[in-house]
Amino acid sequence: MNREKRFFSTRVREHLRAKGMERGTELLRVMRKSNVEYEGLLERLLTQETSFFRYPGVYEAFEKRVLPELHTKKFWKNPRTLRIWSAGCSTGEEPYSIGITIADSLSFADAWNVEILATDVGRHALKHAERGLYKGRSIASVSERQLTNHFSEVSGGYQVKPRLKKMVSFAQMNLASAVYVGRMDMIFCMNVMIYFSEERRRSLVQRFLRHFGTRPGIFSSDTRNQSRRCR
Ligand SMILES: C[S@@+](CC[C@H](N)C(=O)[O-])C[C@H]1O[C@@H](n2cnc3c(N)ncnc32)[C@H](O)[C@@H]1O
Repeated sequence: MNREKRFFSTRVREHLRAKGMERGTELLRVMRKSNVEYEGLLERLLTQETSFFRYPGVYEAFEKRVLPELHTKKFWKNPRTLRIWSAGCSTGEEPYSIGITIADSLSFADAWNVEILATDVGRHALKHAERGLYKGRSIASVSERQLTNHFSEVSGGYQVKPRLKKMVSFAQMNLASAVYVGRMDMIFCMNVMIYFSEERRRSLVQRFLRHFGTRPGIFSSDTRNQSRRCR
């Protein structure tokens, strides 16, 4: 059995135990009758590990290479709009890290209209993302200056400030179905395609490429956590 299959069968067994069921057929029967049961299993199958600025090299390339390129390309457009998609955003750390990088980049001060679309298939993760409350390991890579500028300290952690929150809109979306989200200047799809078959990965990348209004491209990553810029 390969790594992915082992991972899925372990999670399904955990789910059966939690439900007090012995057989997969029993679970299948209840899932066929109820969307809630179907979503319950789906949530258990998802791995939602993430953190702010998870791959420092990606954010450095984004700040130093991608943003200046986009700035030059789109400077004369009216209105000046920057659209970025965080596909598989989990609990929100990735889209907010993108937002912080843009907000801290002097070139994209207030005259730009910045829209970050953050999507995920997991409802629980999206609720957490919309709340925008973080603590512990999740924010370990956020600098003191960024914490002061973009978060308010509250009981239970650090709350994303309204200015940053306004840059990001969250939506539930399954990347396996063909949903059109409009033209994008940049797509982050990190640690998501690891769940997909080779064929589905290829068709998703094709779909991503159709979403571009301008280059430069996509940040993606492979199963061994090596991030790369695809185009
Ligand atoms: C490991 S997290 C990665 C989060 C973030 N991109 C990062 O790299 O830190 C993977 C996310 O992909 C989401 N995901 C998995 N399959 C998906 C699908 N078919 N459509 C949308 N999101 C999916 C999961 O719910 C999870 O939140």
